[in-house]
Amino acid sequence: MIKIGRITVSLEMREVYLGADLVPLGARAFGILELLIRARGATVTKDEIFEHVWSKSVVGENNIHVQLSALRKIFGEDRQAIRTIPGRGYRLTLAVETDESVEVPASAPTPRVEAGRLNSLPAMHGPLIGRDSTTAELARALTTGPIVTLVGPGGIGKTQLGIAVARSIADAAGMEVCFVPLASVAKAQSIVSRVAEALGIAVDNGDAPELKDLAAAVQGRKLLVLLDNCEHVIESAATVCDVLVQASADVRLLATSREPLRTRGEITHWVDAMETPAVGAGLHAILACSSVKLFLAQLSASNAAAISDRCSLEMIATICRRLDGVPLAIELAAARAAVFGIGRLIFELDDRFPFLTGGRRTAPRRQQKIGNRARARFGCGRTTQSDCG
Ligand SMILES: Nc1ncnc2c1ncn2[C@@H]1O[C@H](COP(=O)(O)OP(=O)(O)OP(=O)(O)O)[C@@H](O)[C@H]1O
Ligand SMILES: [Mg+2]
Repeated sequence: MIKIGRITVSLEMREVYLGADLVPLGARAFGILELLIRARGATVTKDEIFEHVWSKSVVGENNIHVQLSALRKIFGEDRQAIRTIPGRGYRLTLAVETDESVEVPASAPTPRVEAGRLNSLPAMHGPLIGRDSTTAELARALTTGPIVTLVGPGGIGKTQLGIAVARSIADAAGMEVCFVPLASVAKAQSIVSRVAEALGIAVDNGDAPELKDLAAAVQGRKLLVLLDNCEHVIESAATVCDVLVQASADVRLLATSREPLRTRGEITHWVDAMETPAVGAGLHAILACSSVKLFLAQLSASNAAAISDRCSLEMIATICRRLDGVPLAIELAAARAAVFGIGRLIFELDDRFPFLTGGRRTAPRRQQKIGNRARARFGCGRTTQSDCG
């Protein structure tokens, strides 16, 4: 870990902490911070920032200002920590204290690799609850097979699990990780472009990248590509996966999707709902359930009063059971309980999903509420591996 003023940074995990709290920071702002750290007080030019953070895209200078303003905010009263050097760039004015076990290379790594790393893993929404053994099992699966697909209905936790698996592999095997979010991609060609961008491929103006460019770009790289939300472009995603794993034995693919890719060598993992307490379970068993832990963590994140009484915990157990242990539904329910109380929530549960609104504004639109369409998607308890199969 690296300490700068009041913040602590993990370059490996791409995370920033204020005390013990994880601070949400976008990939671009983190990219700038990473450059500043590696420069160790030397000036980082705007061109370097553009190249490192925006790869080859052409963007205006105000984009740097927006990201710097986000960064300066987390430095709080140390706002002068990042000094503007007029006409040249920016530099860090605070000392970078490095934990002895962490090596911080003084020079920036090559742009090609950095471009990939910058598109790498987003910060997780919070600690991943109840998936430790699955994470380890999936990381192992990726040492034997080239492609693992995490399959399950919306909101079941595929993306969060994928990020955790990718992290553990990157840490243990020292792999470069490219995170490629596909939720907003509509066309086959856009997938190739999105993956090309994540791999750091330089594209000449007007020339769309092709599959052969992807194959060439992965040569000689120990690489894990996480393709997130493949379901709506499943055939093109399958083709890209096939091309990448055929191109190099050092490439691993981790995909999330509502249906399997059905490619050669694919290992399909159906993501289970969270564990829910049995009817009549005792307090100890209730508190041990991952769905209840998630509900309580969300309540506490919403600054609701801590809950420890038997009656409330039993109501929470009922809520988690009735929401079939679907993490997104539980998060939304807890956000509502924080405002209206658990008693009212349980009363409303008779008509279970439609009222689950009011989640994080920054969540993808499809995850901000669970309405009738989602209700149909989840079906009646169709959230487990066997039910989905
Ligand atoms: N194990 C977990 N611990 C804590 N929170 C979780 C866990 N799994 C999922 N969540 C939370 O549930 C929400 C939905 O998870 P996620 O986005 O991973 O679902 P998904 O299956 O990828 O959904 P979609 O198909 O819509 O992309 C997220 O806000 C996430 O933070
Ligand atoms: Mg997802």
